[in-house]
Amino acid sequence: MKRIRIRVPGTTANLGPGFDCLGLALNIYNTFIFEENFQWEFINFENKYANENNLVVRSMKKVYEIAKKPMRPFIIEIKEEVPISRGLGSSATCIIAGIMAANFFLDEVLSLDDIIKLATEIEGHPDNIAPAILGSLVSSVNSESIITVKHDISSNLLFTALIPDFALSTKEAREVLPQELSYHKAIYNMSRAINIPYALKEGDLVMLYHLLTDKMHEPFRMPLIKDASVFQEFAHERQIPFCLSGSGSTLLMISKENLENELKKIDVSTKWRFVTLKPDNSGTILEVL
Ligand code: HSE
Repeated sequence: MKRIRIRVPGTTANLGPGFDCLGLALNIYNTFIFEENFQWEFINFENKYANENNLVVRSMKKVYEIAKKPMRPFIIEIKEEVPISRGLGSSATCIIAGIMAANFFLDEVLSLDDIIKLATEIEGHPDNIAPAILGSLVSSVNSESIITVKHDISSNLLFTALIPDFALSTKEAREVLPQELSYHKAIYNMSRAINIPYALKEGDLVMLYHLLTDKMHEPFRMPLIKDASVFQEFAHERQIPFCLSGSGSTLLMISKENLENELKKIDVSTKWRFVTLKPDNSGTILEVL
């Protein structure tokens, strides 16, 4: 029986104005082990996900359907570091692991471009998917195929994830968005998003502080996140680049110094944990065991 291990990084999408098109892989990982078996078994999955209806298996099934092959059962084990429904790309890790595992057991029916396309179809947008597969910062275009451009990032930067003890689903966080956007706001976002890869490469925190502001989604989502305004004020007072991670509920700060001690001193009403992360440059890694 063949066994494989797939390690997928968590990701922070949007980076403020790069809504649905910019994302960065971080050194926090979900690792999955797949082994062919005579029945389904799920190890270390939360109870509600320990079944064939979870996102990993649903994503595997799509590949078997494309290959027109019947699916066999597997033992799937997860080692989970990426918190669920916190805006750190946990669903993208499940989708990618499922697709890549099925693709391995089906002798590579899909190319890398096909994998990115299928994963984006399942997820709805490429901004977590593309960096989770490719690593580093990726700008992507959701077109007939998914256009992806990987960018280098300065090695001096730290990405602090401020993770609250409450979840926020992407569905819920998209429902509060308006249907239309003015020219003024579109220009505001475009002009900032387009320069983020340069500022991250240069490690220019002053520029990043000005670029990581958004008029497309954060004004509508921040009110859903208790205490967000307290951290926002902390960041503004110190000119620290600050944004929502993906659709939340995690918040993100970029710095060169470790911020954890200062953040711990802030008086807030909910429980938060602070995790200092670096970019992941490898993307998804599949190993045969
Ligand atoms: N770009 C998406 C959103 C999050 O902000 O709704 C990516 O999962």
